[in-house]
Amino acid sequence: MNILVTGGAGYIGSHTCISLLEAGYSVIVADNLCNSKIETLKRVMKITNKEIIFYKIDVTNEHDVEELFEKHSIDGIIHFAGLKAVGESQKIPLIYYYNNIVSTIILAKVCEKYGVKRFVFSSSATVYGENQVPFFENMNLMPTTNPYGESKVISERILTDVAKEIPGFSVAILRYFNPVGAHESGLIGEVPNGNPNNLMPYITQVAVGKLDKLRIFGDDYSTFDGTGIRDYIHVMDLAEGHVAALRYLKEGVQVYNLGTGKGTSVIELVRAFEEANNIKIPYEIVSRRHGDIAACYADVTKASRELGWRANRSIRSMCEDSWRFELNNK
Ligand code: NAD
Ligand code: WQD
Repeated sequence: MNILVTGGAGYIGSHTCISLLEAGYSVIVADNLCNSKIETLKRVMKITNKEIIFYKIDVTNEHDVEELFEKHSIDGIIHFAGLKAVGESQKIPLIYYYNNIVSTIILAKVCEKYGVKRFVFSSSATVYGENQVPFFENMNLMPTTNPYGESKVISERILTDVAKEIPGFSVAILRYFNPVGAHESGLIGEVPNGNPNNLMPYITQVAVGKLDKLRIFGDDYSTFDGTGIRDYIHVMDLAEGHVAALRYLKEGVQVYNLGTGKGTSVIELVRAFEEANNIKIPYEIVSRRHGDIAACYADVTKASRELGWRANRSIRSMCEDSWRFELNNK
């Protein structure tokens, strides 16, 4: 089966390529490399000893996407391509809305034209906004505080409407919680552009000495230690969740939380990293970051029941694998 992976050179996409290849799928990647490097795909091929067909195209370009569908018989698509930095999306909202929404529209349109019925979409826990934890798939979505989050809400709606109208169209909307970690080979992982915004890459860059200390955004939340709680999920568990979703796809739209169901505080993650890797992480407490919520974690019963998938890698292995990748790539 030929699977088109948009954004396949990126962090989650590249790990998912490994899981797809290992599960026996053929993989075609479409990526404009705006936030990734071709070297990552070379490493995926090295890890799996399998080939990937690569197109350097922008998936908002309908002509280029059609050309790809003309050349290959596509059986399904996993759409990762997107811009993902929350803060940046507030500075350049039009670029975020355009890239993230137009790409979804073009891909759905081309899928319809070429009769491709399997569509897996990368959404985010950010769509739950300030709902009460744990987050369930059937909760009403709250307005998010940024264009990035809105672009995910709108893309979800577009795909839901499209699935109602195209007979046989099967969509899985996957809402990721906080992906961290790296492939255990240490060859691929997350490479943030400039100073990291996310916690785990910030910690690894402090550990390696690129940054002097971690700033913890607030210790006055109503959580057990006052710091923010998140549902960190190992990127390889997440990758395997995509294979499970692809296998299960059925007509209409299914939404799944891909998380562990367990919350970890900022301080707990710092301590786990220190323990797993035997490195001290200096930190200071600073004020809250605008737009952050106290707690975000998933209810994961739906994915477990329907997809037969469960995240099972520990916080410790997330810390070990993130560190191994940082060391290999510093
Ligand atoms: P990433 O930036 O590492 O990967 C995205 C890839 O898409 C990059 O390789 C980039 O070059 C490519 N891309 C972007 N726009 C493109 C376009 N128009 N045409 C072709 N390629 C394009 O990000 P990631 O962390 O791997 O995220 C993948 C998806 O998952 C994104 O849609 C993101 O919004 C979503 N997501 C990520 C997180 C997270 O914390 N990493 C959480 C929830 C959801
Ligand atoms: C985690 C915790 C911070 C950095 C973001 C997006 C979300 C999704 C995943 C795409 C929070 C604290 C962080 C630091 C800190 N992405 N923190 N110091 O904000 O939960 O989610 O990435 O869909 O949409 O919003 O992740 O890793 O930035 O933060 O104290 O230097 O770590 O306050 O409690 P977040 P994060």
